[in-house]
Amino acid sequence: MLMKATVNGTDVTTAGITLHNLQKRYGSAMAVDDVSLSVSPGEFISLLGPSGSGKTTTLMMIAGFEMPDSGRVLLGEKDITRLPPHRRELGVIFQNYALFPHMTVAENVAYPLRMRRMAKAEIETRVHRILDQVHLGALASRYPHQMSGGQQQRVAIARALVFDPPVLLLDEPLGALDKKLREHLRNEIKTLHKEVGKTMIYVTHDQDEALAMSDRVAVMHEGRIRQVSAPKDIYRRPADLFVAGFVGEVNLIPVKLKSGIVHGPAGESLPSPPWQDADRDATLCVRPEHLRLEASAGSSGGIQGRISGMTFVGDATILEFRSETGLQLLSKVLNVSDHSMEVGDPCVASWVANDATILTD
Ligand SMILES: Nc1ncnc2c1ncn2[C@@H]1O[C@H](COP(=O)(O)OP(=O)(O)O)[C@@H](O)[C@H]1O
Ligand SMILES: [Mg+2]
Repeated sequence: MLMKATVNGTDVTTAGITLHNLQKRYGSAMAVDDVSLSVSPGEFISLLGPSGSGKTTTLMMIAGFEMPDSGRVLLGEKDITRLPPHRRELGVIFQNYALFPHMTVAENVAYPLRMRRMAKAEIETRVHRILDQVHLGALASRYPHQMSGGQQQRVAIARALVFDPPVLLLDEPLGALDKKLREHLRNEIKTLHKEVGKTMIYVTHDQDEALAMSDRVAVMHEGRIRQVSAPKDIYRRPADLFVAGFVGEVNLIPVKLKSGIVHGPAGESLPSPPWQDADRDATLCVRPEHLRLEASAGSSGGIQGRISGMTFVGDATILEFRSETGLQLLSKVLNVSDHSMEVGDPCVASWVANDATILTD
């Protein structure tokens, strides 16, 4: 079922995407391994993971350029698993733009409409409208080689949106651009998402991009989805060690859970949120910005050691800590005021109980 939703007073066609147990093997290698995911109509979701984790293969199975070995793809309630790409009517944007070099911007954007044999006047209206929306109205008669990478990517976005697809699929669309431009364009894509109200599935290996743009992030590793959550929860409540380590910096402390207390490497008790598991070995994760280095331990405990290094990084200082048992941790302190700590100073590493996560995988 396609949904009519209203965005900025205009009707748009959008639909959710559901993946049921998708699997894809290349030879003996499992590229996508039992991926299930439900994307709501109008949602912006990112597939985030390192190179080779199966993001593109998943997206290509949604687009229809790859066939799954097993599993199903639904657009709304319609099973599209076996439909060829052009019958799915999804907008797809690749990293390398894939613009036609011999066509102007307007001709590139008109192409999907000409393929659909739309009337000339209607094509002109639509091309004009979408080019304005991506701020390219003034460049309609240019050729791709006369434009910057960022402008070419906007043309690719306009071309994917012009036929009003219910879903937009984007595979590392900013991957070829420099950092400043990436940040600028990611804000533009986010704004465009709000304006057009389409379901968007966005593939990236860049955690900042995924966290900044998405309603939800699906973290992939070795062909599997490890966690699907809102950006804040991916960062604050990672589901496993892979997610904790891939998204942001993290301190990993080997601990023992025993009789309701978390014991650190030297047997000391440590601050921790409650946990469900029985007594066992585990890993306590705490982000550097949550790790405090202070002269003495608070009531909920901490790890004894010394400051072993200090790096000024502009807005913050990164303090290195080494415990008496040789454990190395990082603490990030914002440079809002001067601090008096020096390398070699004895101190205690601790954190607010609720800022830590216990992982038992
Ligand atoms: N056409 C193909 N033939 C063989 N192996 C492939 C092919 N496409 C992808 N793979 C393999 O499948 C795995 C997942 O690839 P891919 O989906 O491209 O990952 P990502 O987009 O996350 O970098 C990788 O190990 C990759 O080498
Ligand atoms: Mg890829």
